[in-house]
Amino acid sequence: QTATDPAIVRDLRGSGRAIGAFNAIMLEHAEAVVAGAEDAGLPVILQISQNAVRYHGSLAPFAAACQRLAEAATVPVIVHLDHAEDETLIHQAVDLGIRSVMFDAATLPYADNVARTRAVVAHCHAAGCWVEAELGEVGGKDGAHAPGVRTDPAQAAAFVTATGVDALAVAVGSSHAMNSRDAVLDDDLIARLRQAVPVPLVLHGSSGVPEDGLRRAVAHGITKVNVGTLLNRALTGEVRAVLADHAGLTDPRKYLAPGRDAVRAEVTRTLRLLARPR
Ligand code: G3H
Ligand code: ZN
Repeated sequence: QTATDPAIVRDLRGSGRAIGAFNAIMLEHAEAVVAGAEDAGLPVILQISQNAVRYHGSLAPFAAACQRLAEAATVPVIVHLDHAEDETLIHQAVDLGIRSVMFDAATLPYADNVARTRAVVAHCHAAGCWVEAELGEVGGKDGAHAPGVRTDPAQAAAFVTATGVDALAVAVGSSHAMNSRDAVLDDDLIARLRQAVPVPLVLHGSSGVPEDGLRRAVAHGITKVNVGTLLNRALTGEVRAVLADHAGLTDPRKYLAPGRDAVRAEVTRTLRLLARPR
């Protein structure tokens, strides 16, 4: 169990390296994330978001599949519940044996974010579960991942002290679900946050950040890099190409297998970049 303990993330803080955290929607994503990490010989975080749970209608079946894949992997695989806005879902995840969750209350007013995150931390820590939370702009509202939003280092430090979270998602210039890699991150702010905050910093919306930007973000103090859209670009691009060449295809394995291979290659490439950013 220690091999897949989220303490891996804590121990990376300050190392100049980061771990990749990849969002899985379908079993093929999860298989590709684990296989890609095995190809790289590196630990990985396999994330299920609340949106993915909504898509499936419940957490348990997909979580069980991810947990079995993690147990069978030849590298450490941490199964993580991502962007949970609902405490009930977090309690369910803990009951299912998930040991790493993100509680996302960044769109709430600061005092509400603190109060609800604190309660989640108390519940999760009692069960040995690691908690990531998110802090957007002073004054809240836009969450952490609109392009213009920035996290204030002093407020971030106060938030971590007040809530006891194990990791903090910060707003430093990225935004979710970008289809091109042209986000410009505020490296100086990342460095100031890293000085101010005693827990690992998490970058969301990393698909919009060019590879050099990711290297610099890690060098300046980002420890966990969340990637979703990049994998879906690879998967859907491959599926589209196969179907364009073979209009009569019916068996989904014929297009999902190349899609899964494309995701696997992207995971390996990204993990290597994060583990050796210079
Ligand atoms: O929590 C998940 C990530 O922030 C994914 O963002 O789809 O823009 O890479 P992305
Ligand atoms: Zn995110």
